[in-house]
Amino acid sequence: MTTADHSKNNGKVPPADETPIVELRGTGKSYGNIRALHGVSLAVHPGKVTCVLGDNGAGKSTLIKIISGLHQHTEGEFLIDGEPVRFSTPREALDRGIATVYQDLATVPLMPVWRNFFLGSEMTKGSWPIRRLDIARMKKTADEELRNMGIVLDDLEQPIGTLSGGQRQCVAIARAVYFGARVLILDEPTAALGVKQSGVVLKYIAAARDRGLGVIFITHNPHHAYMVGDHFNVLRLGTLELSADRSEVSLDELTNHMAGGAELAALKHELAQVSGVDVEELPEPEDLTAPVAATPEGTS
Ligand SMILES: Nc1ncnc2c1ncn2[C@@H]1O[C@H](COP(=O)(O)OP(=O)(O)OP(=O)(O)O)[C@@H](O)[C@H]1O
Ligand SMILES: [Mg+2]
Repeated sequence: MTTADHSKNNGKVPPADETPIVELRGTGKSYGNIRALHGVSLAVHPGKVTCVLGDNGAGKSTLIKIISGLHQHTEGEFLIDGEPVRFSTPREALDRGIATVYQDLATVPLMPVWRNFFLGSEMTKGSWPIRRLDIARMKKTADEELRNMGIVLDDLEQPIGTLSGGQRQCVAIARAVYFGARVLILDEPTAALGVKQSGVVLKYIAAARDRGLGVIFITHNPHHAYMVGDHFNVLRLGTLELSADRSEVSLDELTNHMAGGAELAALKHELAQVSGVDVEELPEPEDLTAPVAATPEGTS
């Protein structure tokens, strides 16, 4: 590790491998007397995918709400380009280049794809009082931007509601890239998708990374995380249970962390108390957490 000089950025994008774009240092969040997050440290670098894994209630959404400006941390530090910040609205986070794609995408289903691409930031032409939407330019730009990301849609006039969930995620990713995001936060983008569509979304996560964005990828799925991730953070009950670079952890280890090998063993023990369950017939915890990718869903 080189020791970077964190003090002289003058607001410019720092070189990769030095000051992270986003950094948490011992950050936590309490809601009243519920401690949802505690002592979490992580860093997001340009051109890298930082994965955040964890079970239900582990604190994943709380973590991204802090970074995206929806909630404020109550403990530790939150830094952008090495400078401590405290956002009071998502707009402030956006102004610093942090874009969040939520699972329930904020799109208008009946509006065409190109219109959704520019929603809230429409291009106009002419000046007041005859200012109008510049429809031709918006269509052309949306088409170019989607193609730049390798997303080919037959018809940008089709209502976005007719696209598949995966395609909509991809449009949202391309949109964030176009509007100058430096950090892209994706909250469980593959959770509701089948195998093939998940693959498509993972491809665009990689495309965003290759364009130099720092990506924060939240997921339950260690297989999806491992396909694109550079660094893995596993949350459990609000604290970081694992923080490891790709070179430090195998897919099996990551899966085991996620599934909680010890918990599975305890579950097996509990089941042994229930009459009628033949514990000898149950698989070993390691088998339950082994990769299932060998038999892709839907093929049998
Ligand atoms: N606004 C809130 N007020 C009180 N407690 C909250 C609030 N938001 C979250 N929590 C609590 O904080 C903990 C972490 O929740 P969080 O939503 O961050 O988990 P998660 O990892 O996103 O879970 P999931 O996978 O179910 O989305 C939970 O125990 C939850 O009940
Ligand atoms: Mg959540």
